[in-house]
Amino acid sequence: MAKHRPEPELPPCYALVLPGLEEVAAAEITQDLRGEVRKTGRGLVVFRVSTIDRDVLRLRTTEDIFLYAWGTDQLTYRAVDLDKIQRWTAREPDWDHLLRLHHAVRPRPRGRPTYRLVTQMSGQHGYLRKHAHEALAKGLAGKLPASWRHAEENASVEVWLTIQGNTAICGVRLSDRTMRHRSWKVEHLPASLRPTVAAAMVRLAGTGPGQVVVDPMCGAGTLLGEQVEALRPYQRQGVRLLGGDVDRNAVRAAGINLRRLGPKRCTLWPEADEEEASATPVLLTRWDGTRLPLASAAVDRIVSNPPFGKQLGEPEEIAALYRQMAVEYDRVLQPGGRAVLLVGDLPLLREAVRRVGWKSLQQVSVRVLGQRAVISVWRKPER
Ligand SMILES: C[S@@+](CC[C@H](N)C(=O)[O-])C[C@H]1O[C@@H](n2cnc3c(N)ncnc32)[C@H](O)[C@@H]1O
Repeated sequence: MAKHRPEPELPPCYALVLPGLEEVAAAEITQDLRGEVRKTGRGLVVFRVSTIDRDVLRLRTTEDIFLYAWGTDQLTYRAVDLDKIQRWTAREPDWDHLLRLHHAVRPRPRGRPTYRLVTQMSGQHGYLRKHAHEALAKGLAGKLPASWRHAEENASVEVWLTIQGNTAICGVRLSDRTMRHRSWKVEHLPASLRPTVAAAMVRLAGTGPGQVVVDPMCGAGTLLGEQVEALRPYQRQGVRLLGGDVDRNAVRAAGINLRRLGPKRCTLWPEADEEEASATPVLLTRWDGTRLPLASAAVDRIVSNPPFGKQLGEPEEIAALYRQMAVEYDRVLQPGGRAVLLVGDLPLLREAVRRVGWKSLQQVSVRVLGQRAVISVWRKPER
């Protein structure tokens, strides 16, 4: 009888995430993917799953997912690191196994496979990124099939080396650009949110079956789109999503984006007739978010990313906008309801929210479009 070699143990996976979102991503990996988080670092979550399949590509708060080849947090910042990068790449991973696992998740395209190497480096090192890249390439020599072609665009396999300070991690990329950019988001506006940040806000909102969620300043509809995606398991349980913006062009853009999530997913309101409106999960309209056409205490969750006062609006107008917004959001929110707000100026928001007496539940610092920002989670007291 032929002897079968046992399959090697599954390697860990890792996610690259926007710095600040590590804990939210770790919670998604643990709760939704049933993964076991082994380590988090700046912009990084290392985890294990019992089966590596396309489910890992359903994560929403991560920028990219990889099969782990090797990693260290002991870089010396000196040129000796380059020898180690080459040696680790050549000796540590079972590249054949990693490629088999990669093909199981991302089937090989027809024709001769292509590959690409990517090196990212941040921090002050005594060598350049291109030197680290060369060390990676030397370490990989002879590890990928000789027939594979190098390609800078749309390569079927990508091997990434990410260096941040004294940490380096190397792996085979399982995700592609649609993980971070989403295929449904085709209309973009200045100051539109990164979908992974919107997904994190939606997770923190914790919307459940039967609830009403509103984004009063929806821009291109990123938060609403992520909320639709997060609610997929509950679609039949009557969650209602409402969104609007003062800018007609934003409402149009949000409509185009949200319709891509499926037919009947989005209706422009008030054009929708009553019957259609009640059957449609997302209603969009042009409105002033500080004077919402909604009854008091009609909403369970508010997810909102008001202007920062930099790209949009004048800084002095923002304090007044936040004050009006807090009063109006408080009016429409149910007692016990939750608001998740992303702002650039947290003290200004705190000042506005202090007047309505919401309780602060959590804050997550992130960088959005190169600026410091904070996702803040609030609860309206039961009274
Ligand atoms: C930072 S953007 C929101 C981006 C959005 N989350 C996205 O991902 O595209 C802020 C939005 O607030 C809107 N806005 C500003 N003042 C408003 C108001 N009083 N009522 C409704 N929308 C308002 C702007 O038109 C803009 O689209």
